[in-house]
Amino acid sequence: MERIAVYPGTFDPVTNGHVDIAERGLKLFDKIIVAILNNPIKECLFTIEERLEMLESSFENYPDITVETFNGLLVDYAASQNCIAILRGMRAVSDFEYEFQMALMNRRLNPAIETVFMMPAESYSYVSSRLVKEVFQLGGRVSDLVPPAVERRLCEEYGDPAEPDCGRDRRRRP
Ligand code: PNS
Repeated sequence: MERIAVYPGTFDPVTNGHVDIAERGLKLFDKIIVAILNNPIKECLFTIEERLEMLESSFENYPDITVETFNGLLVDYAASQNCIAILRGMRAVSDFEYEFQMALMNRRLNPAIETVFMMPAESYSYVSSRLVKEVFQLGGRVSDLVPPAVERRLCEEYGDPAEPDCGRDRRRRP
């Protein structure tokens, strides 16, 4: 039987840290489903379609990684896809409390599904979607921190930082 894990998240946007975790997950699981939570209440920079596109492009060379969206409870989605585990990245102690609560709640909701934490490469231990957006918006370089598709999309949103008058303070959407 195939061992499938779901790797859920907001992915606004996907970073190299996320890619690193999914790659590591393939050492333990036959297949990984990267699942974007479709939560219309949460304010994201990128639409669900944009996030899906960036993730698909980031994982296009990984035949055992698929990208999907989901609504509702994660454990219900995981069970519907025959997943045996939820994969999450753990960067630092600061992640622990949030992850611990989610893992125990998910276990309570469905004890058959385990949560597995993996640590990213040290070089990504400080990388988060929030910081990537902030650094880029303020003119910093993020090319080593995100897949090329994300950097392209950020440039489309804010302008190319290589150009002096790129208008990064203007948002495409209000
Ligand atoms: O990347 P994020 O924002 O840390 O991911 C959080 C996510 C999507 C994994 C979490 O919010 C989630 O699983 N939401 C789905 C709804 C759910 O099952 N809630 C109970 C989890 S304890």
